[in-house]
Amino acid sequence: MPIDNGSMLHHDEAGGGQPVVLLHGFPLTLEMWRHQIEALSATHHVIAPDLAGFGGSGPASDPVSMESYARDVAELLDSLDVLRQVALVGFSMGGYVALAFLGLFPERVGALALIDTKATADTPAAKAGRVDAAAHVLEQGSSFIAEAMIGKLLSPGSLADRPNLVSELVASMSAQPPRSVAQALGAMAVRADTTPLLAAVGVPTVVVGGAEDVIVTPEEMGTMASAIPGAEYVEIPGAGHLTPMEAPDAVSEALARWLNRMTD
Ligand code: MLT
Repeated sequence: MPIDNGSMLHHDEAGGGQPVVLLHGFPLTLEMWRHQIEALSATHHVIAPDLAGFGGSGPASDPVSMESYARDVAELLDSLDVLRQVALVGFSMGGYVALAFLGLFPERVGALALIDTKATADTPAAKAGRVDAAAHVLEQGSSFIAEAMIGKLLSPGSLADRPNLVSELVASMSAQPPRSVAQALGAMAVRADTTPLLAAVGVPTVVVGGAEDVIVTPEEMGTMASAIPGAEYVEIPGAGHLTPMEAPDAVSEALARWLNRMTD
C-alpha cells in the first residue's frame, strides 16, 4: 500500500523533552543515526523516520519530491502529537528534505542542522547521471547504486580500515527497493535550488561536514554556512561524506553543542 500519510512512516523514537528529528541520506535508512539516537536521547526526544520507500517504511506514491518527503515527516509529527518546534537535522538527501521542510513549514523549525549537504540544485551533468543511474537500478537492482556509491561515502582511511562498516553499508543500500531508489534519484534530480531560503533562516544553525567529503565538498558547505545568518560550520577531520557513521562522537558532540545554543 503506497504511503500517502506520514503517520505510516516507520520511525525510531527515544528520550523525552525538546524534539529532535533526524532525516537520513540516500539510499540509506534511519540506521545511519544509531549513535546520534543514543547520544541525543539522553537529553532530547529523538524521532528518526525512514523516508517513504526506505528501511521499514512502505513504498511512496508518485510523484516523489523533496517536498513530498517533507510533508510525510510533518504528518508523522502530527500523528505523534509533536506540535512544538523541532530541532531538524538533515544528512545529505535528508538535508535537501530538511530545507524543503523549512520552506513549507518554517513555523515548525526551531533549529537547523545541515550535515554533508547543500542548498544548490543539480547541475545538468548531475541530473543526467541520476537519470542514467535510476535506469540501471531498475534493470539491475539496488546493488548497482551500492557499488557506485560506496567509494564516495567514506574517506579513503575508513574504506581501508573499516571493512565491517563497508559491508554493512553495501548490504543496507543493496537491500533498498529499486523503485524507491529510482524515485529518490528522480526527485533529487529535479529538486529546487533552496539557496534563496538561506539568508532568511532565523534559527540556530550548524553546518557539519567531513573534511574529505567528495560528494559535498567542504567549500560548498562553507559557502552554504556563510549564507545563513549566525551559522556555525564544523569541519570533521579524517571523515568523508558519511560523518554520522564515520565520526559518530564528533557529530553527536557538534549536535549537542548546537542543541544547547537552542535553549541558551
Ligand atoms: C546522500 O548521501 O544522500 C546523497 O549522496 C545525496 C546526493 O546524491 O546528492
